[in-house]
Amino acid sequence: MSGGGSEGALRRHRIAVIPGDGTGPEVIREGLKVLRAVAAAEGFELQTVEHDLGGERYLRTGETLPDPALEELRDADAIYLGAVGHPQIKPGILERDLLLRLRFELDQYVNLRPVRLYPGVRSPVGGLAPEDVDMAFVRENSEGLYAGTGGFFRRGTPQEVALQDSVNTRRGVERCVRFAFDLATRPGRRGHVTLAHKTNVLTYAGDLWQRVFDEVAAEHPGIGTAYVHVDAACIYLLENPGRFDVVVTDNMFGDILTDLAATVQGGMGVAAGANLNPDPGGVSMFEPIGGTAPDHTGRGTINPIAAIAAGELMLRSLGEDAAAARVDAGIRRAVSKMRSMRAAEMGFSTAEVGDLVTEGAVDA
Ligand code: IPM
Ligand code: MN
Repeated sequence: MSGGGSEGALRRHRIAVIPGDGTGPEVIREGLKVLRAVAAAEGFELQTVEHDLGGERYLRTGETLPDPALEELRDADAIYLGAVGHPQIKPGILERDLLLRLRFELDQYVNLRPVRLYPGVRSPVGGLAPEDVDMAFVRENSEGLYAGTGGFFRRGTPQEVALQDSVNTRRGVERCVRFAFDLATRPGRRGHVTLAHKTNVLTYAGDLWQRVFDEVAAEHPGIGTAYVHVDAACIYLLENPGRFDVVVTDNMFGDILTDLAATVQGGMGVAAGANLNPDPGGVSMFEPIGGTAPDHTGRGTINPIAAIAAGELMLRSLGEDAAAARVDAGIRRAVSKMRSMRAAEMGFSTAEVGDLVTEGAVDA
């Protein structure tokens, strides 16, 4: 829920901000700079509340996501996240107990990752032009191999067994597939949905996905459809990404495919994601997908475009389309002037890139 109450009052959105670890705070600072500028230009207000969550807090207090913090986040209109992770913390703790817990507790069942090649950005895949790369990945974000079910048997012995289950519920698959078909009808999309899976081997989970996909497709006769095996999808992503408009896939396949797709679009410096709970009253979370980049922390060399693009996604989900269009214009102006999307090779500092986007967004 957003909005301002009485007639004529300023529209206001309450944003919970988790700057997090590493370069998270640096890129979120630039994101908020841009968001505040476009809010002023479009006449609405962003009320931000910062939350101290992430590796630093965990090392200090042992807490990952205390219940009161979760309840405050539940109450926000949207969450803006930098990155969480810490070289001194064993892998799995912050991922499971903070990031994935937020996704699960808030039932952010779609991980939406738009992939565009902005004019002037070099893709490591030679010969690709902006018109060849305009896709939206709809990654199931609440189950699959991420559900955390399974276990050990005789752990630490020569006979040990580890099981990690992929949980696929009809409800979970269906709501994600429906979101993908819905998205394909929206302005700017091309009315096509591809299912990426591995139905030739995953004959139970794949069968469920394929049947649900076919059922939902039958309700949308105007939408074109295709199926690709996930391994072949990796080839097509490099050889012919133009065949993809909306791609829907499960959690694990989506994790891998979207890193490859992010590389195609110029790397983690530009790749943004939205963890969406599209249901009424749902709270969604927006993040650059590149992580904490410890090597670049505190140097002003990290590329904030991904975080700014995540802010653009947040504005869209808050219904602030005009402000989102401004951010898009600002990003396009900035990237046309940047030497590279790679950290430390941009030709500008992190803050200067934020300024360039802001100027372009205000002028738009
Ligand atoms: C991502 C990340 C996360 C994931 C990790 C940090 C748990 O890789 O958002 O893609 O696997 O989903
Ligand atoms: Mn990932």
